[in-house]
Amino acid sequence: MSASTPVILLTGGSRGLGAAMARKLLAEPIKAKVVLIARTEPGMKALQAEYPGQVEYVIGDVGKDEVNEAAVKLAVDKFGSLTGAIFNAAILDPIAPVAKADVSAWKNLFDINYFSLIAGLKAAIPYLRESKGKVVFISSGAAHHYFYGWGAYGASKAATDHLAATLAVEEADIVPFSLDPGVMDTDMQGFIRSHGEGMVSHEHDRFLKLKSEGGLSPPEDPGSVAVNLVLGCPKELAGKAIKFNDPALAAYRDYKA
Ligand SMILES: NC(=O)c1ccc[n+]([C@@H]2O[C@H](COP(=O)([O-])OP(=O)(O)OC[C@H]3O[C@@H](n4cnc5c(N)ncnc54)[C@H](OP(=O)(O)O)[C@@H]3O)[C@@H](O)[C@H]2O)c1
Repeated sequence: MSASTPVILLTGGSRGLGAAMARKLLAEPIKAKVVLIARTEPGMKALQAEYPGQVEYVIGDVGKDEVNEAAVKLAVDKFGSLTGAIFNAAILDPIAPVAKADVSAWKNLFDINYFSLIAGLKAAIPYLRESKGKVVFISSGAAHHYFYGWGAYGASKAATDHLAATLAVEEADIVPFSLDPGVMDTDMQGFIRSHGEGMVSHEHDRFLKLKSEGGLSPPEDPGSVAVNLVLGCPKELAGKAIKFNDPALAAYRDYKA
């Protein structure tokens, strides 16, 4: 393996944005090595078959600390280093107002969307220091836009933005960045369209319209920005939380329809 081959941990690599980012990382000209985590195997297995020698994966729930730890170990054991991580796996459920909150469902969401990041980072930081690695957190506009019924998800993404900023002041040799990928045509949007009952109708209608009027991005578009940042995020962007189509990120956006 060439000394410059990137070795990237990518959570939620089985479908949606994660699968789009994995494909870009694996293909020419990047030809990275990747370690994926997801609960379902087929998407990851297909990538492993398509890119022999470049893909390892852990089947499991990122809400369990040991799953994240195992993926970091796999990267180092199989590929000899870790040069970057993209924390992408997340869920939106539960959608419900605070007054009707199922506290255990909020805790489950935080285990998956937020505490998984801490477990993964804690295991990865020693290797990322060594490689002067980059970390891209996949955030959301919901971190700072307050949708009715989306309190659990939005709070987990606001906490994610905060984590990127915290890491920037704590880790001189690592560049962390939080990316808002906009609204994408993935299963998560399908989940929103079919779960209007916890939302207010004008907000739910907006998501229905985004789909019917072609307003959702292909995940490859924000995915191109995330991949280019995990390979080469500059120090000036450390700790920032920015939307993928912001002019500040134009140099990192190379998706062609
Ligand atoms: N879609 C949007 O419009 C949108 C907008 C803003 C932000 N985002 C963010 O973009 C990221 C990707 O979303 P997406 O739209 O690609 O969602 P998606 O289509 O629902 O895919 C989610 C991915 O995360 C994995 N995942 C979910 N829960 C997991 C768990 N407990 N353990 C391990 N893996 C888990 C899923 O794999 P398995 O099911 O196989 O485990 C899948 O690979 C998320 O962070 C999301 O919050 C999405």
